[in-house]
Amino acid sequence: MIYSYLRFEKTDFDGVFKLVIDRPNALNALNSDVIAELQSFFEKIVNDCSIKAIVLTGGGEKSFVAGADIKEMVNLTAQDSMNFARKGQQLLLTMYNCPKPIIAAVNGYALGGGFEMSLCCDMIFASENAKFGFPEVTLGIIPGFGGTQILRRLVGEKAAKYLILSGEIISAAEAYRMNVVNRLFKTPEEVVNGAVEFAAKIAKNSPSSVAYAKKAVNVSFDLSMERGLEYESSLFGTLFNTEDQKEGMKAFIEKRKAEFKGK
Ligand code: HXC
Repeated sequence: MIYSYLRFEKTDFDGVFKLVIDRPNALNALNSDVIAELQSFFEKIVNDCSIKAIVLTGGGEKSFVAGADIKEMVNLTAQDSMNFARKGQQLLLTMYNCPKPIIAAVNGYALGGGFEMSLCCDMIFASENAKFGFPEVTLGIIPGFGGTQILRRLVGEKAAKYLILSGEIISAAEAYRMNVVNRLFKTPEEVVNGAVEFAAKIAKNSPSSVAYAKKAVNVSFDLSMERGLEYESSLFGTLFNTEDQKEGMKAFIEKRKAEFKGK
C-alpha cells in the first residue's frame, strides 16, 4: 500500500523497521488521513512475521507529532469531534495491543495527540530537545486520544493532573525523571539509532515471547493481582506449545544461540 504521510523503512537489522510520520510542514500533526493511514498500517502488519520490531518517529527536524490537527478540528461539531477522538483512540489501542514491540523515538515536540501516541508505544526514547505536554486546556479542550487514562496509569494521579490541568510543556529530562521516557540521547540521529539498536536486541528474542510478555504487562493495568497471575501463567503455559520455547531452552543446554522462528 502506498501511503501519503507514512514512510516505512528497512534498517540494517533483521526484522527491525522504521515507521516515519512524515508531514513536517504541519509538524507531523495527526489529521484524519494520517490517522487512517496509521490504522491501516498497524492492522496490516499484525501477522507479518518479517516485522519483529518498529521504531516510530517523526519526519523533519522539529517534531515527533505536534498533536491532533487543530486546523481540522476548529469547526467540528460535538458529534464529529467525538468521532474524531474515537478514531484516534482506536488507533492508539491498536498500537497498544500490537503484538510487535513499538519504540517511540522522540525528537522535538510530542504534544497532545503526539504525546498520547508516544505513550501508547512500548517504550519512549527521546533526544535532549524533545518536549512533552498536553496543551489541550489552552485550546479549550482536553486530551482526547486517551491521555487522561494512559498518563494516570503510567505516572499516577498527581503527576498526570499536574501536566494535564496546567498544559505545561516539559523537557525530555523532566519526562525521564517522571518515568515517561526510558532513555535519553543527545541528538536526533542518536535517538533514532539508539532506538533501532535497542529494537534489534528485542528482535533477536522469540517473537512469541515478546508478544506475550507485552500482552501480560498490558493487562496488569486492568486486572487484580490474582487474575493477572492467572493470566500470566496461562500465557506462560501456551508458550510451551511453541517451537520457540523448545528451541530457546535446547539452545541454552547445547550452549549455542537460539534461532527463533516465531512459531
Ligand atoms: C495543525 C499545526 C499543529 C497542530 C503545528 N502546526 N502544530 N497544525 N495542528 N497541532 C503547524 C502550524 O500551524 C504551522 O503551519 C506549522 O505547523 C509550523 O508550526 P509553527 O507554529 O510555525 O512552529 P513553531 O513556532 O516552532 O511552534 C511549534 C509549536 C506550535 C509550539 C509546536 O506549532 C504549537 O503550539 N502547535 C500546536 C501544539 C498543540 O496545541 N497540540 C495539541 C493539539 S490538540 P503554517 O501553515 O502556519 O506554517 C490535540 C488533541 C488530541 O492534540 C485529541 C483530539 C481528539
